[in-house]
Amino acid sequence: MSGVVVLGATGSIGLQALDVCERLGLEVVGLASGRPSRQILELSTRFSTSAVAVSGGSGEERSELAAAIGQRAEFGADAVVAMAAKTGVTVVNGIVGAAGLRPSIAALEAGNRLGLANKESLVAAGPLVLDAARRGGGELIPVDSEHSALHQLLSGVDRSEVASLVITASGGPFLGKKRPDLEDVTPAQAMAHPTWTMGGRITVDSATLANKGLEVIEAHVLFGVDFDQIEVVIHPQSLVHSFVRLTDGALLAHVGHTDMRIPIQYALTYPERTNAGLDPFELAGRTLSFEEPDTDTFSALPLAFAAGRAGGAAPAVFNAADEVAVAAFVQGRLGFLGIAGVIERTLADLAGEPAASIDEVLETDRRARQLAASLVAGVC
Ligand SMILES: NC(=O)c1ccc[n+]([C@@H]2O[C@H](COP(=O)([O-])OP(=O)(O)OC[C@H]3O[C@@H](n4cnc5c(N)ncnc54)[C@H](OP(=O)(O)O)[C@@H]3O)[C@@H](O)[C@H]2O)c1
Repeated sequence: MSGVVVLGATGSIGLQALDVCERLGLEVVGLASGRPSRQILELSTRFSTSAVAVSGGSGEERSELAAAIGQRAEFGADAVVAMAAKTGVTVVNGIVGAAGLRPSIAALEAGNRLGLANKESLVAAGPLVLDAARRGGGELIPVDSEHSALHQLLSGVDRSEVASLVITASGGPFLGKKRPDLEDVTPAQAMAHPTWTMGGRITVDSATLANKGLEVIEAHVLFGVDFDQIEVVIHPQSLVHSFVRLTDGALLAHVGHTDMRIPIQYALTYPERTNAGLDPFELAGRTLSFEEPDTDTFSALPLAFAAGRAGGAAPAVFNAADEVAVAAFVQGRLGFLGIAGVIERTLADLAGEPAASIDEVLETDRRARQLAASLVAGVC
């Protein structure tokens, strides 16, 4: 490996990936973020990084950052894509949202290893991402903790002996609540995740169970398993990261700390393992509990199953509508229950759009955002 490129370097996954690189002594050869910020400047100094790419920002903000960083700063979405396509690097994609799609494709087309946290890439355009890996020879290792667990569990199992994959969900801060309890919940309440500290969108998605829905589609793409063979179980402690159910009735479980640095490290060092510097996970005194998800209250989950089964553009539409609805909820323009409502109505109109190429997926993504935004506006 000739170094690591961290996309979404200023976010929750990005910063943890940088911690892992620092601890393992891996050279960071590229950093990318969404906005020109003091944080990206500080990271470029801290890691003496030879390249920085920033996708957004005003002309003035870009000039200020370019002057502070020197010739190493590149701007625009294409600069982030180009950074993912550097030769011979390992790319960690911690970008949030569909903006991560083109960089994922570029990394795999260039033959790079891609540690993929950006589940939206696989949801919006799973078959195209897999095609890019086949074409370019890139290697896709999931970073999402559930999928990292499944990757590990499945490595020692004959696929013909797998009955189903069981993905665990914490249930989020509103576990046990019913629809009337959720009418007036605030963004601050939704952001109070009981077990994981993460970025804004994924935290709200965990509260609606949309995140679990995205993960179901992600698992279908990554492991080629039918939706009928993917189960979701609520596990409030988040200590079992996934199960594999075998045909003889055995259940394999991946158990451990709730610390994303472990799956990030696995993606960087696979197939080798190295000490992650954490205390051993103590088993004594732990209580593990499991229950069925409440799909009437948290209807984003069955909507995701339906979008996944429909295939084509439907998963991309689900993702785009959710991104818009979550942003509106966080800004106080949409109620919590409205998030699933906007997804459902956007899917009803646009699930049949074309999605056979990246351009088609991006156009469908754009149209779904437009429709979701108008639905949000109509609610207010
Ligand atoms: N956090 C977790 O524990 C966790 C666990 C599993 C999976 N994931 C997945 O990992 C991804 C990142 O989540 P997160 O929680 O780390 O999000 P986050 O904390 O919100 O960070 C998002 C990162 O993406 C960057 N970004 C946003 N738009 C961009 C664009 N157009 N081009 C380049 N960079 C862009 C942001 O840059 P700025 O700071 O400049 O805006 C930031 O660095 C999501 O797909 C999430 O589902 C996260």
